[in-house]
Amino acid sequence: MLYASEHPLIRHKVAELRDVATRHRLFRDLVREISTLLAYEATRDLPLVSRTVRTPLMATTADEIAVTVGLVPVLRAGLGMVEPLLDLIPRAEVWHLGLYRNEETLQPVEYYNRLSDRPTPTGQEAGLWFVLDPMLATGGSAVAAVDVLKRHGSPRIKYVGLIAAPEGIAALEAAHPDVDVHVAAVDSHLNEHGYIVPGLGDAGDRQFGT
Ligand code: PRP
Ligand code: URA
Repeated sequence: MLYASEHPLIRHKVAELRDVATRHRLFRDLVREISTLLAYEATRDLPLVSRTVRTPLMATTADEIAVTVGLVPVLRAGLGMVEPLLDLIPRAEVWHLGLYRNEETLQPVEYYNRLSDRPTPTGQEAGLWFVLDPMLATGGSAVAAVDVLKRHGSPRIKYVGLIAAPEGIAALEAAHPDVDVHVAAVDSHLNEHGYIVPGLGDAGDRQFGT
């Protein structure tokens, strides 16, 4: 299922993010702020469990998150989305995944997979996993990231990104129809180099000043 935000705060911040005059520092701040707002929505169905809490007045029942949350930032550009998610869910695990897009074939190439060291999760450990990557262009990287997670045994996966092309959404939905997709904006199309139009350029370069 696709969730494309219409929230005015997100729309305003996406406009600033797209602006070629936005420098790296502000760009990173905007990635952080938009990620927080998207995460608020993407985590709305996190399962809860009751526990007893003692207030200054009495004992009462209150809720806490019942499952392990896994964050999978796709290097490099997904790195800027980790801290805002950790601010909201401090106990989340972070499992980095290095993918880059071959500039000619546009196919994803895996170069780092921290998940390969992790024991296959079971039960509560399986939890809810979030693939974090600002740009959903052809969808090749997102499909590859979800493939890795599924091979690893993660049953519930969501994708959180900033800008998506219709081509990328279609590819991800076709390969993994069970994965919810949360994005800040859906753009017009991909250009001949596989860049999202109007987009924001290269999300990694704009965050890290390269
Ligand atoms: C970008 C982006 C995604 C990918 C999207 O990464 O962060 O991972 O491209 O394109 P796709 O949907 O066509 O696969 P890039 O390969 O530029 O690497 P970087 O994050 O290191 O800049
Ligand atoms: N990766 C980016 O960073 N930007 C795009 O437009 C497409 C892929």
